[in-house]
Amino acid sequence: MATEDRFRSLDGEELYRRLAMGDSLVLVDVRTATEFEDGHIPGSLLIPLQELEQRVREVPNSGMPIAVICEHGLRSASACRLLAEHGYGPLFNLRGGLENWPGPIKNGPGQNGHHELGIAPSSFLVESFDLLPKGLALDLAMGEGRNAIYLATRGFDVDGVDVDPTAVAHARASARKLGAPIRAILGNVEDGTYIIPIETYSVILVFHFLHRPVFQDIKDGVGPGGVVVYQTYTLEQQRFGRPSNPDHLLRPGELKQVFGDWEILRYREVIGPARRDRRPRAIAGIVARKPA
Ligand SMILES: C[S@@+](CC[C@H](N)C(=O)[O-])C[C@H]1O[C@@H](n2cnc3c(N)ncnc32)[C@H](O)[C@@H]1O
Repeated sequence: MATEDRFRSLDGEELYRRLAMGDSLVLVDVRTATEFEDGHIPGSLLIPLQELEQRVREVPNSGMPIAVICEHGLRSASACRLLAEHGYGPLFNLRGGLENWPGPIKNGPGQNGHHELGIAPSSFLVESFDLLPKGLALDLAMGEGRNAIYLATRGFDVDGVDVDPTAVAHARASARKLGAPIRAILGNVEDGTYIIPIETYSVILVFHFLHRPVFQDIKDGVGPGGVVVYQTYTLEQQRFGRPSNPDHLLRPGELKQVFGDWEILRYREVIGPARRDRRPRAIAGIVARKPA
C-alpha cells in the first residue's frame, strides 16, 4: 500500500468534535518549538518534522489514532508518510493545519504532551457515563470545560463554574462552536461568591479541584438519586511533582469516607501513567449515588 493511502485528512471541525466527544487521539505537532509556543492545541506533543525520524519512538504506538498537526497541513502530510513507513497507524493529517482549527489554543511551551489538560474529557467520566442520570449537571471548577462540554454534547443541560474568567470565556465559546451550549458561570466556590444551589442537579462533576469545605455543599447540591463524579490527585502525587500542597491532595480513602453514606458505584485509587504520558500520577476517583 502506498504510504499516502495509509493516512487520511481530517478537517479541524471533525478533529475538534472527535476530541470533545471523548475519542482518544494522540496529537503530534510537527512545527518548530517557536511556532508551538506561539499557540498549540492543548495536550499535543511537539516533535519538529526535522527531528521526527530520530525521535519517532517518542510517538506512542499503541494503535490509538494519531492526528498530525502543522501550520498549513504540508509538513504534517510528510510526517504522516514518515510515521506510516515506521508502522504507525491509523494516521490523520489535519487538513489546512492550525489555521483550520476551531478549538482552544494554548500559548507557551506547554507541557509537551505531559499532564496538560487537553480538550478530551476525562476517561474516568467517559467510562462512567452510563451511570449518570440524565438531567441538569454541574461541573465545578470546570476550567475550559472539557467535561462540561462532553456532557452537553450528550444530552445534558450543563452549568459550569470557574473562578478564572479566561477559562469561563473559552468554555462558553467552545461549547457554542460545538453546538452544545453550556451555562458558563464565573464564580468562586471558596469565598462564597458562588454557592451550589441545594438539590438542583442530577449530576455534579469535580475534576482536579479540592477544597474540603465544599464537600457538604457538593453532596447537598444533587437531588435524591443524583450522582457525584469526583476525581483528583492524592497525597502520593507529592512523589511525582505538582500539585504538591497537601490541602489540594486527597488522603487515602478520603472520597470513600466523604461519600460513606451514599451508594458507591465506582471507586479507584491508583498510581498509573496518564494517557499519552509516561510520568506517573496518583489519583482517586469516585462515582457515588445519593440515596433516593
Ligand atoms: C486543574 S484545573 C481543572 C479544570 C477542569 N476541572 C478539568 O479537569 O479540566 C482547576 C480549575 O479550578 C479552578 N478553580 C480554582 N479555585 C477555584 C475556586 N475557588 N472557585 C472556582 N474555581 C476554582 C481553576 O480556575 C481551574 O480552572
